[in-house]
Amino acid sequence: MLSVARAAGLVIPSGCTMGICGTCKIRKAEGQVHMLHNGGIADEDIDEGYILACCTNPIGHIAVDA
Ligand code: FES
Repeated sequence: MLSVARAAGLVIPSGCTMGICGTCKIRKAEGQVHMLHNGGIADEDIDEGYILACCTNPIGHIAVDA
C-alpha cells in the first residue's frame, strides 16, 4: 500500500518498510487486506482496524482514514 500511496501523491510516514517499526500505521476504514508484518503492530491495534501500510496488500477496494 505504501508504494501505491506514494505513486498517488499521498504521504504516509514510514521508516523501516519491513513491518518492524510501526511508523506507517494507518487505520483501515473498510475493505479486506493481507498483511505480513514483523512485529511492528500489536494485536489490539489490528483488532481496531489498524494496518501497516508498508507490508499490506489490499484485497480489492479498500478505504483508509487519512
Ligand atoms: S515503515 Fe516500519 S513498519 Fe512500516
